[in-house]
Amino acid sequence: MEIKVVGVIGAGVMGVGVAHNLAQSGFKTILVDVSVAILDRARQEIINNVRFQGFFNKDQEAVVPEQILEKIIFTTDYQLLGEADYLIENVVEKWHVKQEVYTRIDSICPPSCIFASDTSAIPITRIGSATQRPDRVIGIHFMNPVPMKPMAEVIRGFHTSEETIKTSKDFLKKMGKGCVVVNDSPGFVSNRVLMLTVNEAIFLVHEQVAKPQDVDRIFKSCFGHKMGPLETADLIGLDTILYSLDVLYESFNDSKFRPCPLLKKMVDAGLHGRKSGRGFFDYPI
Ligand code: NAI
Repeated sequence: MEIKVVGVIGAGVMGVGVAHNLAQSGFKTILVDVSVAILDRARQEIINNVRFQGFFNKDQEAVVPEQILEKIIFTTDYQLLGEADYLIENVVEKWHVKQEVYTRIDSICPPSCIFASDTSAIPITRIGSATQRPDRVIGIHFMNPVPMKPMAEVIRGFHTSEETIKTSKDFLKKMGKGCVVVNDSPGFVSNRVLMLTVNEAIFLVHEQVAKPQDVDRIFKSCFGHKMGPLETADLIGLDTILYSLDVLYESFNDSKFRPCPLLKKMVDAGLHGRKSGRGFFDYPI
């Protein structure tokens, strides 16, 4: 199956990175979100990110933003997804929002189109159940920032076919990525571990055991990690961390996934991390 046109739903942190990576890999990309203002901001972010990439990859052939932008259609019109061969969904980590999106695209996209969800924690089998094509529904958990990360976690839902897995692996290769395939479970491998770690790090700040910079310093200086858990939380988005913990808590009915009250308070206060300019640390926006 040849993939030429890729639909990307959701133009937030992940959708911007996915669309940029796809356009850079030569795919015609249709990026859908709910408002023109969000799409305008996404366009500007892609321009900034392409320039940033050029600055750091001086030895590679220069790519100008226009080369990337000409491959991307920015739209609020879901009907344009009717020509998509493959689709990557990156909407907010809330089941009722995703469920509505899948029901909608199932009637718009051709039956052969594969739906890949970039969810952090929602089971792929549940996502497949919102469609009439569960064999063509798969999880591709991209890493952030997408164009710079060479690996993805691929999740096989209960009904996901071997053909869908093969097509998705080949597709990821064209995006310049390898993958690890795992079976379906809430949070998969990566976020079942990462979300617990991040939440526990937030509890340490909540209980005033250590300041955010000291929590992260222990991971960076002592363990040699590139980033500490709180800087990682800010990069992901504190709202996304909270919603992912909610999914894990609800899925396993296990109190170990209960979100820290400080996390809830910060999300309510609009401190969503890097994307909002403030989380555990401050960022210029
Ligand atoms: P975000 O909050 O930055 O962006 C979500 C976007 O979805 C927003 O632009 C919103 O307007 C849009 N949206 C909401 N409802 C929509 C609809 N009905 N149709 C079209 N667009 C709609 O969130 P982010 O961080 O990009 O996360 C997206 C997905 O990717 C989530 O499922 C998240 O768990 C997952 N993810 C996030 C990672 C991260 O580091 N932030 C890493 C890997 C996966």
